[in-house]
Amino acid sequence: MSQITEKVAALEEEATSRIQAASKKEELNELFAKYLSKKGEVSSLMSLMREVPNEEKASFGQAVNACKNNVTKAYNEKKEAFEKEELAAKLANEKIDVTLPGNTLQQGHINPYYLIIDEVTDIFLDMGYEVVEGRDVETDRFNFELLNVPKDHPSRDMQDTFYISEELLLRTQTSAAQAHTMCDKNPKGPIKMICPGKAYRRDDDDMTHSHQFAQIEGLVIDKNISIANLKATLELFAKKMFGEKREIRLRSSYFPFTEPSVEVDVSCFNCGGKGCAMCKGTGWIEILGAGMVNPKVLEMCGYDPNEYSGFAFGVGVERVAMLRYGVDDIRRFYQNDVRFLKDYVGK
Ligand code: DAH
Repeated sequence: MSQITEKVAALEEEATSRIQAASKKEELNELFAKYLSKKGEVSSLMSLMREVPNEEKASFGQAVNACKNNVTKAYNEKKEAFEKEELAAKLANEKIDVTLPGNTLQQGHINPYYLIIDEVTDIFLDMGYEVVEGRDVETDRFNFELLNVPKDHPSRDMQDTFYISEELLLRTQTSAAQAHTMCDKNPKGPIKMICPGKAYRRDDDDMTHSHQFAQIEGLVIDKNISIANLKATLELFAKKMFGEKREIRLRSSYFPFTEPSVEVDVSCFNCGGKGCAMCKGTGWIEILGAGMVNPKVLEMCGYDPNEYSGFAFGVGVERVAMLRYGVDDIRRFYQNDVRFLKDYVGK
C-alpha cells in the first residue's frame, strides 16, 4: 500500500474509533464537523488525488470511497444509538404512575345561604308568587316612611341604619320592596311577590349579628285577604321547608307596617317538639316575622284599605341556614372560607 493510501486507512481508523467512543451527542456532532462535513478531513481526501501516481489513482479512489462509507456508517450507527438512548430516557422520565393520587380540581361552591334562598324561592314560585328584585340602596321614604315609620318614630331605633345622605341609605329591611311593589302597581290590583335580597344594619358583628344579612320578603295583596290566608301560607311553607310533620304557631308581636303583627315559630325539626338544645327546650323555633299589612301602609302606597287587604312576612335567611345546616356563627357565611362552603354542598 502506498504511503498515501495508508494515510486514508489511518484516517478511517482514527475517525471510526473516535466516533464509536463518543460519549455525548455534542461530541458526535463535533466529530461529524471534523471528518464528514464538506470541508471535513474525510471529505477532503479526494483533493489528494493530484499527488497520487496515475497507476494508483483507481485504488486510491476506491480506498477514499470505502473510508467515507465506513466513517459515515459509524457516524449513523452512533447517531441512532444516541437517539435510542434519548428516547428511552424520555420515556422513563415521562412514565405515568396511575396509582398516584390525582390532582383534585378546586371547585367553587354555592354559599349555603344562597341554597336556602333558592329553596325558599322555589317553594313560593310553586305557589304562584313572582320574584321581585329590590335595591340595596334605598330612599328613607321606601325603607321607612311608606312602611309607617316616620322620622321621629321610636322603632327606627330598632334598626340602626347606614345612611349615605339624609335621604339615601342602605336598606335595613327587604320590606322596602313591599312599598315599591305596591306603589309601582298600576292600576292597583292583586300582588303576590317575594323579594330575596340583602339588608344592612349598623350592628356590631358577633355570632348572631352581622352588619350585612339576607332576608326574603313576601307580600300578598288582594280583596278579602285575612290572617287565615297568612297562616295557611306560612304553614305550607314551613312543611315544605322543614318537613311534613312541622306545625307553626303565631305569637303576637309588633312591626309598624303590619297590624296585627306576629312572630312565627315552627315546631322544632330537631326534636319534633319535645324540647332540645336547638329549640332551647321550648319545642319551638322562631323563623320569621309577619302580619296583616297595616291599612296606613296600603293607603300611603295607593291602595284603598276598604277594598284591599294583604299580608306580609319577612324571613331571615341566615337564621334558617344556621338552623338547617347547624352553623353556630353567622359570620361564617361571609368569610369565604372554602372549607366551610365545601361542607354544605349537596346538603
Ligand atoms: N322587616 C322585618 C325585620 O327586618 C321583618 C318583617 C316582619 C317583614 C314582618 C315583614 C313583616 O314583611 O310583615 O325585622
